[in-house]
Amino acid sequence: MCGIVGAVALRNITPILIEGLRRLEYRGYDSAGVAVLDDGNGIKRTRAMGKVAELEQALESNTANGHLGIAHTRWATHGKPSERNAHPHLSERLAVVHNGIIENHHSLRTRLQSQGYEFTSDTDTEVVAHLLAHHYSHKPDMLSALRSTLEELRGAYALGVIHQDEPSTLYCARMGSPLVIGEGSEEHFIASDPLALLQVTDQFIYLEEGDHARLTLNSCEIWNSQNRSMTYPVQRYAHAAHSLDKGEYRHFMLKEIYEQPRAVTDTLAGLLGEDRVLTAVLGPDAESRLKDVRNIHIVACGTSYHAGLVARYWLEEQTGLPCQVEVASEYRYRSVSVPEGTLLITLSQSGETADTLAALRYAKKQGYLGTLAICNVAGSSLVREADWRLLTHAGPEIGVASTKAFTTQLVALLWLTTALAQERDRAPDMIAANIRALRGLPKLIEQVLELDGVIENLAYSFANKHHALFLGRGTHYPIAMEGALKLKEISYIHAEAYAAGELKHGPLALVDEDMPVVSVAPSDSLLEKLKSNLQEVRARGGQLINFACERADLDNGDGITHIKLPWVYESISPIVYTIPLQLLSYHVALVKGTDVDKPRNLAKSVTVE
Ligand code: G6P
Repeated sequence: MCGIVGAVALRNITPILIEGLRRLEYRGYDSAGVAVLDDGNGIKRTRAMGKVAELEQALESNTANGHLGIAHTRWATHGKPSERNAHPHLSERLAVVHNGIIENHHSLRTRLQSQGYEFTSDTDTEVVAHLLAHHYSHKPDMLSALRSTLEELRGAYALGVIHQDEPSTLYCARMGSPLVIGEGSEEHFIASDPLALLQVTDQFIYLEEGDHARLTLNSCEIWNSQNRSMTYPVQRYAHAAHSLDKGEYRHFMLKEIYEQPRAVTDTLAGLLGEDRVLTAVLGPDAESRLKDVRNIHIVACGTSYHAGLVARYWLEEQTGLPCQVEVASEYRYRSVSVPEGTLLITLSQSGETADTLAALRYAKKQGYLGTLAICNVAGSSLVREADWRLLTHAGPEIGVASTKAFTTQLVALLWLTTALAQERDRAPDMIAANIRALRGLPKLIEQVLELDGVIENLAYSFANKHHALFLGRGTHYPIAMEGALKLKEISYIHAEAYAAGELKHGPLALVDEDMPVVSVAPSDSLLEKLKSNLQEVRARGGQLINFACERADLDNGDGITHIKLPWVYESISPIVYTIPLQLLSYHVALVKGTDVDKPRNLAKSVTVE
C-alpha cells in the first residue's frame, strides 16, 4: 500500500528518501516518485513505474541534490498504475505526496478546473496539490494554506508537502492514515511507517488523528484539528534496525517462518507464572475487568480474522463466554447488537488496517464494556485508540503473507482465553495445561520446522495444479482457511477451505485427480469424523495430502501422502499445524516462480478501505 517519506536536513536528503522507499517496498506498490528542492533549481520531480530500483535509474539522468524533499510509493486506487499518476503531484511551486482517499475529490476537481487549474493525472491527490496552491495564493504562508485545505478535505489522508518559497520547511498532516515524525540531530523526517526511517533515527513522534505539523531543521510544531498547539513525547523505536535484513534467508517470508520460536517466546515474556497467567500486562485493574466480561466480539481482516476464528473455539469451550467473530469490512457498516458486558477485541498485525481501525471507532460508540487491541506494532493507531492493549512481539513482519504475526496472535489469544478462564475459576488443570503447552510451544515449532525438506519435495506436485482444497475440523478448520489463503496469496493457485463435514454438501463435486486435497489431521476428538471425510475424497480419486499427528493411524495407499507431526496438546495444536501449511505455500510459490515477499496486487498494510 502507499508509502510516504520526507526529510528536511543539512545533508543531501535524496539517498535518505530512496532508502526510505526501499524499506517501504514490502507494503506493496506499483510506482514510485520523489520531489527534491534542488539547490538553486526549484523542485525537481522524478517518477517511475515499477520498483524503486527503476526510480533510482530514472534519477541517474535527473540527479537531484537538496535538503528538503518528499517521496512516495503508490498503490493505485484512483487512476491506473502509470508514471503520470505516480506521486509527488505538483501545482505551481509546491509538491504533495498523499496516502489515503479524498472522498470529495470529484467536486473539488470540478471547482478547481473552473478556476483554471489543469489536471495532469487521474488521481484524487492532485486535487490536494491544486487546492494548496489555490489557498496559498490568498494566504500569507503555507501553514495557513494547509489549514484551509485540510478544512475542505473529506476522507482519509496522510500528507507530505513542500513549497519552493519555504525551502527549509516540511509540512505534514494526518487523518485516517498513519504518519510519524522522525527526529534527528538538526534534521526532521516524516514517514507512513517508522521502519522507513530506521536508517536515520529511532526517535519518533506519533501524530494523532487530525494533526498537522511544520518541521524545520531545529523545530517541530504540531497542531490538532482545532489549530491548538500539541506536544507529544518522543518515543524510541524498540526493534533493532538489523531485523529488517533477510540475513541468510532467500526471502523475508522464510526468515519470518523460522523466527516463530523466538517470536512466540518474546510474546509470552512476562505473561506466564508457575501455574497462573499473569494479567498485569492488561493494567492494574485487569482482574476485575476480566471478571466483568460476559460476551466477546472479535473483529479483524485477512489472516488476523482467521486467528479470531480459532479463538472463538477456545473461548467458548474454555471460558463459557459467548463469542462472535466478524470481518471488519462487514462489521463496520451494520447495526450490531451488543449485549451488556461485551468486550470488543480487534486483531491486527499492523494496527493500521483501515477497516479494522474504522470498526474500532464504530465500536467505541456502541456501548461495549471496553475495547482491546491485540497488535504487533506498539505505536500504531489501533493500539493508541483501544482501551486495553496486548502486544504480540513478533518483530517487524515484511513478507506480505503474514506468518509469525498470525502465530503470535494465536498465542496472545490462547493466553487471554486462559486469563479469562482463570478469573472465572474454571478447571485449574486446564489452566495449568495451557501454561505448560504454551511454554513448550517454541520447541515444538522448532521440531516441526525440521519438516521443511519433506514439504519442499511435496511442493512439486502442486506445480501444474490450478485448484486446491483444504479441509479441517474444529479449531483446525480456520487453520485450513489460513492454509488456503497463504497458498492463493503467494502461489496464485485457487484454494478453498471447507469444514470437512461440509464436503458432501458441495465441494465433493469438484474432487478429481487434478484437485489436491490438503487435510489438517491432529489427533483430537474429531479425528475419527475427519477420517470418514478423507475416505470420501479417496473414493473419488482425489490426491490426499494429510498433515497428521504421528499417532493418527490414517489409511495408507496410492494417492495419499502423510506428513507426520508430533503429538501436541489439543489447545496449541492449531498453532503447530499452521507451520507446515506456511512452508507448503512458500515452497509451492518457489516452484511457481512468483514474487514470494511481494505478491502481485496485494499490500502488506491495507490503509485504505
Ligand atoms: C493485508 C495483508 C494480510 C493481513 C491483512 C490484515 O491483506 O496482506 O497479510 O492479514 O492485511 O492486516 P493486519 O495488519 O490488520 O493484520
